[in-house]
Amino acid sequence: MPLKVVTRSVEETRALGEQLGRDVLRPGDVVVLSGELGSGKTALAQGVGRGLEVDAPVVSPTFTLVREYQGTTTKLCHVDIYRLEKVQELHNLGIEEQLEESVTLIEWGEVAASALPSERLEVRIAVGAGPDERIIELVLLGESWRRRSRRLAEIVEGFAPDEDHRIPEGSS
Ligand SMILES: Nc1ncnc2c1ncn2[C@@H]1O[C@H](COP(=O)(O)OP(=O)(O)OP(=O)(O)O)[C@@H](O)[C@H]1O
Ligand SMILES: [Mg+2]
Repeated sequence: MPLKVVTRSVEETRALGEQLGRDVLRPGDVVVLSGELGSGKTALAQGVGRGLEVDAPVVSPTFTLVREYQGTTTKLCHVDIYRLEKVQELHNLGIEEQLEESVTLIEWGEVAASALPSERLEVRIAVGAGPDERIIELVLLGESWRRRSRRLAEIVEGFAPDEDHRIPEGSS
């Protein structure tokens, strides 16, 4: 079963990313961020940047496709393939050369799943009941991620459980 977090603000989504960046992610990791336009993929990436203590604010890489940042212990490579015409072009972005020394975050990465390493963390973001609610699933693919499932579960447990986010009956 995938791990699930419900966030109720952009800050909370950033906080999840920050914890991933600080406690879980390490060079060589690939994280796929999926979810519709405006769901919060970049917000989560901003949190990761914070957790890795990168040298500049993380901004959307939509028009550049790839942005790189230097953190204290690793680089962050933030990729947005929304405007990629063909999956083959992924090889032209030069992210493979950086893979081992970076944490690589790929927005819309599910589109190119076949071209990505089989060991990866998938962060799937869906818009929830209210405009600021997001349902975030963490899908652990491969042995290196399964080994980190305990740590990830602890982080997930640090967020308010799903039930707390429900609007009490009769309150509307
Ligand atoms: N719980 C939440 N988590 C994340 N973002 C939220 C939340 N609630 C509201 N928002 C808002 O949703 C928007 C998310 O934008 P963001 O750029 O992160 O999305 P995105 O998935 O990267 O979009 P795109 O596909 O265009 O790159 C922001 O305007 C943010 O303020
Ligand atoms: Mg984005």
